[in-house]
Amino acid sequence: MVKIAPSILSANFSCLEIELRRVQDAGADWIHIDVMDGQFVPNITIGPVVIKAIRQICTLPFDVHLMINSPERFINEFSGAGADVITVHIEATKDPESTLKDIRRLGKKAGLSLNPSTPHDLIEPYLDLVDVILVMTVQPGFAGQKFLHEVVPKLKRINALIESSNRSIELEVDGGINRDTFPIVIEAGATVLAAGSALFNSKDMKEEIRLWKTWSK
Ligand code: DX5
Ligand code: ZN
Repeated sequence: MVKIAPSILSANFSCLEIELRRVQDAGADWIHIDVMDGQFVPNITIGPVVIKAIRQICTLPFDVHLMINSPERFINEFSGAGADVITVHIEATKDPESTLKDIRRLGKKAGLSLNPSTPHDLIEPYLDLVDVILVMTVQPGFAGQKFLHEVVPKLKRINALIESSNRSIELEVDGGINRDTFPIVIEAGATVLAAGSALFNSKDMKEEIRLWKTWSK
């Protein structure tokens, strides 16, 4: 069954505790946390201080998606703040190998993310070093964008790479996932769906998550 990772970028930040409880009660598997630096992407969101605070009130695994330049500078801090998965962008780090090794050395799951236009084969040298591959299905930076259908062939290619590697690597998708697009990405091999607006704006998040999860059975 796929895992669902609601992205708190679409939560109401004035009552984060209530929102996190809502996500937890709705049956989410992970909490997806988008960290942006105004450099790698044209937006600024949250950092380790907030992650540390919400760690006290939420027991779900934290899936921390770093959309920041030179993320290796902050791995220790995000680890200490309570991240469980730390994902860096292949476009943002000069030395993905040592960054991924550092994340694992801290006992965390290591993730590598690709922007929509980044070719799938760049991931190949790192298959031994990753626990999660995060494929962006919108341009990183903002919630509420339209799913980019042209990324689906790449998703399938990465899924094939994972299958032939015989490793247990989660294939996560992020951006524009909703009722229309979740079946497409599950069929292409996605095992973790990060979604913001479609879940937080749904009438009943629990029902929405149930629908997505049971479709994939
Ligand atoms: C975009 C973020 C996504 C975003 C998803 O840069 O990485 O996680 O919050 O939001 P939706 O599901 O609304 O596209
Ligand atoms: Zn994200």
